[in-house]
Amino acid sequence: MNILLLGSGGREHAIAWKIAQSPKVDKLFIAPGNAGTAQVGTNVHIKADDFQAIKDFVLANNVGMVVVGPEDPLVKGVYDFFKNDASLTDIPVIGPSKAGAQLEGSKDFAKAFMMRHNIPTARYKSITAENLEEGYAFLESLAAPYVLKADGLAAGKGVLILETLEEAKKELGDMLNGMFGDASKTVVIEEFLTGIECSVFVMTDGTNYKVLPVAKDYKRIGEGNTGLNTGGMGAVSPVPFADEAYMAKVDEQIIRPTIEGLKAEGIDYKGFIFLGLINENDPKVIEYNCRMGDPETEVVMLRIQSDLVDLLEGVAEGNLDKRTLTIDPRAAVTVMLVSGGYPEAYEKGKLIYGLDDVPSDNILFHAGTVAASGRIMTNGGRVIAVSSYGADKEEALARSFAGAKKILFDKKYFRSDIGFDL
Ligand code: AMP
Ligand code: GLY
Repeated sequence: MNILLLGSGGREHAIAWKIAQSPKVDKLFIAPGNAGTAQVGTNVHIKADDFQAIKDFVLANNVGMVVVGPEDPLVKGVYDFFKNDASLTDIPVIGPSKAGAQLEGSKDFAKAFMMRHNIPTARYKSITAENLEEGYAFLESLAAPYVLKADGLAAGKGVLILETLEEAKKELGDMLNGMFGDASKTVVIEEFLTGIECSVFVMTDGTNYKVLPVAKDYKRIGEGNTGLNTGGMGAVSPVPFADEAYMAKVDEQIIRPTIEGLKAEGIDYKGFIFLGLINENDPKVIEYNCRMGDPETEVVMLRIQSDLVDLLEGVAEGNLDKRTLTIDPRAAVTVMLVSGGYPEAYEKGKLIYGLDDVPSDNILFHAGTVAASGRIMTNGGRVIAVSSYGADKEEALARSFAGAKKILFDKKYFRSDIGFDL
């Protein structure tokens, strides 16, 4: 079978790396991909949300499955585009329908969904310009700090955590006035939750599901979890507190009601669900995403021993219960190398040296790179994820840090404390 993978980040390189190992794959295409995905498949110059170009490519190249990496094409309805086109309807898209992608595309939808299905999450209220006074009153009923979330997609920047009531009221007004464009025309105000976060990934065919290895990502730019939020500076798996007893709670209180809720509401969902959970004792949902996490995928793929394509076929065919998921008992970690200045302004186009000098036990996933005249250059804030296995996270981290030091580019930065709090 030929497979087309949509996306261009470290997550997509990791998925491509895993797909390419499957004996079931003939050709793997990545649209648009990066310099790393070109090492395991063929990049095609199509944007991940250019549905007409994707259609033409799929039909011309006998593609038998489309795997969607990022949320954008899903929220824009790539699944429905295929389902509703007679020439594409038999080609499975791994990812939810547009309605299902609303779990990520609309925080208001996600919160209301959780309320309908008794899924534990922070108390909240959805506010628009029409009920701003209710928003102020709800903020007054909460204790500091205050959490404000733009309802729609805001490139990972739509969540504000404010220390004072005054700031929270001001920011609420600014958000409703277009701070994040249409994405913040509705704002979800949430009670602040405390505890450690973890990322749980579920693969579902709409009825059956499998829980992938749990990971923890490190979102802040600075060591000790300080400074601005980024797309993610590193990840580890497994997560010690996510033991059998914890996962049994997550399954009973969160995963099962989510899958059953989607089904009961008639929402097509054949793909990945990413549960951002908080609190290591009584897990609550901080967010849903309709895709895999980045950089969590750069460790999760290492820990899946089974053939990923076999599992994806199970998702597409609705017989995931007949497929086997075997998890590698080793720890896996990833350390993200980023461009100086990220997540604020940074430069691109810096030559990357030392990619061939890393220890042989590193697995490099390109996040933001581009190849030109045979040289690989930086092409994003997050540049390369250095992943490793180890008997435990300490051993794996020592390996990744060794590789992280060998790769050189102007103003390279990485966090040397990934995993410190576990
Ligand atoms: P989200 O985009 O919803 O994942 O929010 C981004 C980050 O903000 C999360 O990973 C949390 O660290 C933090 N956050 C979001 N909601 C809450 C909450 N209700 N309580 C505490 N922290 C939160
Ligand atoms: N690592 C968090 C995310 O992918 O949204």
